[in-house]
This record gives sequence, C-alpha cells and structure tokens, in this order.
Amino acid sequence: MSALRRALAGAALGGGLVFAVGAFSADGVPDVVPRVTGAAQPMAQVPAPPLARPIVDDKRVMRNYPEQPPVIPHSIDGYQLTLKTNRCLDCHRRQFTEGSGAPMISVTHFMDRDGQVLADVTPRRYFCNACHVQQTDAKPLVPNNFEDMLLVGKKQP
Ligand code: HEC
Ligand code: HEC
Repeated sequence: MSALRRALAGAALGGGLVFAVGAFSADGVPDVVPRVTGAAQPMAQVPAPPLARPIVDDKRVMRNYPEQPPVIPHSIDGYQLTLKTNRCLDCHRRQFTEGSGAPMISVTHFMDRDGQVLADVTPRRYFCNACHVQQTDAKPLVPNNFEDMLLVGKKQP
C-alpha cells in the first residue's frame, strides 16, 4: 500500500468515527456544524423572510478589537460607490469633514501597500463597503460566543 493510500484509508476511517459519534438532526444531517439555513429543510420552498431593518441610530459602535473596521451607524441607502463617484468620501474625506461632521478616514486609508502615505485615499481603500458594513435588527442564526480580549486576558492562570 502506498503512503498516499494509507493516508486516504486513515482519513476515511477517521471520518467514519466522527459520524458515528456525532448527533443527527431530524432530516439526517449530522449536527457537526451549526446550520445557518434555519429551521426549514434546506430544499423546501418557504416564503422569503422579511428584510431585516438596518440600524441607523447614528451612534458610533464600540469596536470589538482595535483593528476592526468600525460598522456604519447611519443609512447608506442610495449612496453611489462607483469608479467615478464615491458618496462616502463626500463626507469622510479629510477635506470635507469640517462641513459634514463625519469622522475622517484614518491614516491607514492613505497608505499604499508599501506603507507610503499618499495625499488622498489609497486605491486599496476606495471601496468602503468591502470592509465597513451596516448592522441590522436580524436575529443571529447561530449563537455567538465571542469574548472581548480584555476578558480573555483575565482568564489566564
Ligand atoms: C452625509 C455624510 C455622510 C456620508 C455620505 C457617509 N457618512 Fe459615514 N458617517 C457620517 C457621520 C456624521 C458619522 C458619525 C456617526 C453618525 O452621525 O452617524 C459617520 C460614521 C461612519 C462610520 C463609523 C465610524 C466610527 O468610528 O464608528 C463609518 C464606518 C462610516 N460612517 C462609513 C461610511 C461609508 C462606508 C459610507 C458610504 C457608503 C458613508 N459612511 C457615507 C457621515 C456620512
Ligand atoms: C480594506 C478594508 C477597508 C476599506 C476598503 C476601508 N476601510 Fe475604513 N477602516 C478599516 C479599518 C480596519 C479601520 C480601523 C483601523 C484603521 O483605522 O485602520 C477603519 C477605520 C475607518 C474609520 C474610523 C476612523 C477613525 O479614526 O476612527 C472611518 C471613518 C472609515 N474607516 C471610513 C472608511 C471609508 C469612508 C472608506 C472608503 C473610502 C473606507 N473606510 C474603506 C478598513 C477599511
């Protein structure tokens, strides 16, 4: 038996064991990973749930860790973000913050990939929504066990 075959056989055996001890839900899908499809059967036709409402209370939300892109606390309905127009920068660009009252994009948004600080927003930070998102009032699909790093630090023996 080649080394590869032995490895494959081992993997198959291991997989079988996991399934043998794992629990199964009503439709026979093993409960190894929490299901994000909700209670409905994955292939069943169900009415589309109502769209969740975005949270637009203008309250800046605490970041869960320092490097997190802050979430957007205001409406972005109809804000165009194309090659020619960037509605976000109309308020968040350094030159416009005095009039708009918006927080300025931070210095990292001016840095190119070599760490060189440019005069204006760097192309790799141009499409804001690649990193900054709104929150909605949708209920989480799976439980969230996230712990703040301050608490994690306190747990050390
Ligand atoms: C009309 C001006 C305006 C426009 C346009 C705008 N913003 Fe804002 N933004 C603000 C203001 C003012 C705040 C401060 C909180 C508030 O009042 O909502 C803010 C807050 C934020 C924050 C939170 C910053 C933090 O530190 O918590 C993010 C992220 C953000 N905006 C991203 C965006 C993105 C992305 C777009 C484009 C899709 C955008 N904004 C368009 C005015 C604007
Ligand atoms: C590649 C991901 C990425 C993109 C694209 C991006 N940001 Fe950010 N943004 C971040 C991260 C990460 C932070 C927090 C750390 C930092 O400042 O770099 C942040 C911070 C901010 C803040 C808070 C600044 C402060 O000092 O409190 C604002 C406002 C913001 N971004 C607006 C924007 C806008 C407007 C755009 C589009 C022009 C944009 N960002 C594009 C990742 C991104």
